[in-house]
Amino acid sequence: MEPIPNDIRLSGPLKPMRFEVDIEDCIVHGEIPRSLNGGFYRVGPTLKHIPRDGALGFPAMDGMVQAMIFENGKATFRNRWVRTPKFLAEEKAGEAIFQFEDNWPDWRGMCIGEVVRDARTSGIQQGNAGVNVVPFGNREILALCEQGLPPIALDPITLETKGLVPWARQCGRGLVNPPCPEGGTFTAHPKWDAGTGELYGWSFWDREPYLTLHFVRTDGTVRSRVVEDAPHYANLHDAWLTEDFVVMPFQPFVNTLDRIKQGYGFPVLGWEPERPIQLAIIPRDLEGGIRWVTADFGPEYVMHTMSANTVGDQLILDGPIFDKAPFPFEQDLSPGEDFVPFGAGVTGRWTVDLAYGTCKSERLDDRPVEFPKVDERFYGKGYETGFMTGGNDLWSLTTVIKRNVKTGSEERYQVERDQPIAIFEPTFAPRHADAPEGDGYLIVPVSRFAENCSEYLIFDTQGIDAGPIATIELPVQIGWTPHGHYMELN
Ligand SMILES: [Fe+2]
Repeated sequence: MEPIPNDIRLSGPLKPMRFEVDIEDCIVHGEIPRSLNGGFYRVGPTLKHIPRDGALGFPAMDGMVQAMIFENGKATFRNRWVRTPKFLAEEKAGEAIFQFEDNWPDWRGMCIGEVVRDARTSGIQQGNAGVNVVPFGNREILALCEQGLPPIALDPITLETKGLVPWARQCGRGLVNPPCPEGGTFTAHPKWDAGTGELYGWSFWDREPYLTLHFVRTDGTVRSRVVEDAPHYANLHDAWLTEDFVVMPFQPFVNTLDRIKQGYGFPVLGWEPERPIQLAIIPRDLEGGIRWVTADFGPEYVMHTMSANTVGDQLILDGPIFDKAPFPFEQDLSPGEDFVPFGAGVTGRWTVDLAYGTCKSERLDDRPVEFPKVDERFYGKGYETGFMTGGNDLWSLTTVIKRNVKTGSEERYQVERDQPIAIFEPTFAPRHADAPEGDGYLIVPVSRFAENCSEYLIFDTQGIDAGPIATIELPVQIGWTPHGHYMELN
């Protein structure tokens, strides 16, 4: 394996973990609750082969899933590359074979454009399954990447790649031209109903009709609906699930193939603040009309949603609010400049009044936070407890936060070590199957990247500020992952 290039995108907490390990019966300080029987799965972009032309956009890398599996008070860490069609083709070739239209040498080279096809890549999907991993049904986790690939199923114990989901052909197209009948896409942030297991997802692209909904039952049947009257294209990264609706935010953040066609010099991502924010309020039964509400406020950005409550005619939509999406835009940097995502959001709330068709925005704090998480058993059912991580910016989050979204009260715990650290997105695990909403554990991965090792911290959600009840040692630096979730394995 070639050594990785010296690049800010591969340094510090972003240094990729380029090997597979099984660490059984990890060293634990404190006690792992014996009722915790399940896996915390995370996935992220990881560099296997150095991409052609040296392009280092995350989508040019390969997804790697990392699991911490709990059973009877013991913990096993395991990680595996996701054997995507791209990964398998490059393993067979022994080198990177994919070249992207936007294979540019700096942050403009996001590698989200079309593949420049040749005989070796003909018909092979480009997606890396490296953005999120979610539970689906009883015995499967799905690795997701939003663009370039439908969900790919993995075994939750061995992490063996089982293959693209059987319903892959029913996923709508994304930004790039599908190279094969299974070449559709599926969001990286589906929501799900814990009772029925139904997955609420979608696919989007930069041409009309922009958005197609895909609601998937655990037997693999898919209900789809094209949203014919979307006002404009937007990057539809996340959404809210309420009792009655899926709420999709059309915000001024765009990434289009037309931008890539402009060539090197213009970022592939665009911030277009003249576009009003519009919310699509979509009935969960997919039968009724879709209602559009235009926000009563200027440009801002919610990258990740926390969850939602319904009070009478009001839809209360929570999530960190950014002034502007934290990505490189042509307004902000010149060709060749390094880019590190700037800032973070603050605890925020959009409230839609369905009676009046209005939407207002509130900022409830001024402290930077990201990676909102909840007790996912209560997706679409209303909630009180949210979790976030805080810090100066996206790359230095070190504070664990539990927030009562109804009262605004918070508990916090600052993770401190002698050397620099970074917290990756935590996950919630219930104390037991029937525990009340928010009652259980928060599991927090900590990269001690300066010391080439890592920890997982387990907090009791009834006392976050008391510190972790267990600390699991890992003798390796875990790779950066944007997202992950917990799945019961009983
Ligand atoms: Fe995300």
